[in-house]
Amino acid sequence: MKLTIVAGARPNFIKIAPLIHEIDRVCSEGMDITYRLVHTGQHYNTELSEVFFNELNIPAPHVNLEAGSGSQAVQAANIMVRFEEELINNKPDCVIVVGDVNSTMACAVTTKKLNIKLAHIEAGIRSFDRTMPEEINRIITDAITDYFFTTTPLASENLLQSGVDPSKIFFVGNIMIDSLSQNMTRAIIPPFFEAKGLKNGNYIVLTLHRPVNVDDPKVLEEILGTIIPVLGDNKLVFPVHPRTMKTLDNIKLDTSHIIFTGALSYLRFIYLTKHSKGVITDSGGIQEETTYLNIPCITIRNTTERPETVEQGTNVLVGDDRAALRGELTKIVAGNMKKGSIPDKWDGNTAKRIIEILAGISFHD
Ligand code: UD1
Repeated sequence: MKLTIVAGARPNFIKIAPLIHEIDRVCSEGMDITYRLVHTGQHYNTELSEVFFNELNIPAPHVNLEAGSGSQAVQAANIMVRFEEELINNKPDCVIVVGDVNSTMACAVTTKKLNIKLAHIEAGIRSFDRTMPEEINRIITDAITDYFFTTTPLASENLLQSGVDPSKIFFVGNIMIDSLSQNMTRAIIPPFFEAKGLKNGNYIVLTLHRPVNVDDPKVLEEILGTIIPVLGDNKLVFPVHPRTMKTLDNIKLDTSHIIFTGALSYLRFIYLTKHSKGVITDSGGIQEETTYLNIPCITIRNTTERPETVEQGTNVLVGDDRAALRGELTKIVAGNMKKGSIPDKWDGNTAKRIIEILAGISFHD
C-alpha cells in the first residue's frame, strides 16, 4: 500500500505522529506500507512546526510545499498547485488528510480531482457554524472523502445524516489522544515555570487564536479585562499564537499580571495544562485534551464541533457572553470542578485501528 500523508498546521502534526509510528511498527513486522509525508508549509515558524516534528519524532517530510500564509484563497491555491504536482509525480493508492485546516481541504480537493482515493481522519465533526473557516473545510473535505475515520459516534451520525455510505464510516476514536497518552510521561516543565512562581494548581492557562476573538483589539481587551479581576490568587499564563501577537501589540489594557510566553512546544504545553487549575481556550484540540486530562475547560466560542467534551467531559461553552465567562471562571477559582469522563475509544489505540482498516481495503476496485 502506497500512502501520501498530508500535514500543514500545528494540530495536524500531533495527529499524524501516532499514524506514522504505527506504520513503522507494522512495517517492522513485515507489512508492506510505503508513504510520502507532505508538509504543505501552512505553518512555517519553528515554534508552530519544527518543534513538533522534533518532539514527536516525526521524520522530516519528503517534501515541503512551502505554501506559507496569505488570504484563505491564496493559501489554498498555493497548496493546490504544488500538491497537484506532488501527486502527479508520486501517485499513491490513497491520500490521508487529518483535521480541518486549510491544508486539509486544499489537498482533499486536489486528490479527488486526480481521481485518487481519499481518507479523512477526524471526519464528521460539525459546529454547524459556517462562519468558521474550519467548518467550511470539514464540509468540503467530507463531501468528497472515500474513507471516513471518526472520533465519536456523533461524528459518524453526522455523516450518515448527510448521506454517506455506512460501510465507508469507521469509528476509530481520537488520534490526538494517542499522542497525548503516549507522551504524557515525556512532558517537559516549561523553563519559566518555577521562575514565575507557578505551582501545581495555582494558575489558569489561556490560549486564543480564532479570528473572531483575536483579530479585533477591542474584543481581545474585553476578554482579558473579564478574566483578570476574577483570578484571585491564581496566575494567568498566556502562550501566544503569532496571529494573536499582532493584535496584542495594539491593546491598551494593563497586562502586567499576565505571564506571556510565545507559542509553547507540545511537551511543554501538555505539562502546563496537566498541572493547571483550569484552561480558557478557543481551540478545538484543547477542549479534547482537557477532557482526557480531567482539567476544567472554558471555551470562548458559541458552538463546538466537539460536543462530547461538554456533555461528557470537563468543558463549558461561554460564547461571547462575558458574564458567563466570569461566572465559570469564578467556579474554577473556587475549586468547584465540573466532573467529566473520557469518551469511548479515546484510549491511545486509534492509529492502530486506522492502519488495520486501511490494510484491509483494496484501493483499486
Ligand atoms: C490554523 C488553522 C486552525 C488551527 C490553527 C492552529 C485554518 C483555517 N486554521 O489557524 O484551525 O486551530 O492553525 O494553530 O487552517 N503565522 C505565522 N507563522 C506561521 C503560521 C502563521 O506567523 O508559521 C501567522 C501569519 O501571519 C498568518 C496567521 O498567523 O497570516 C494565521 O495563520 P493561518 O495558517 O492562516 O491560520 P491560523 O490562525 O494559524
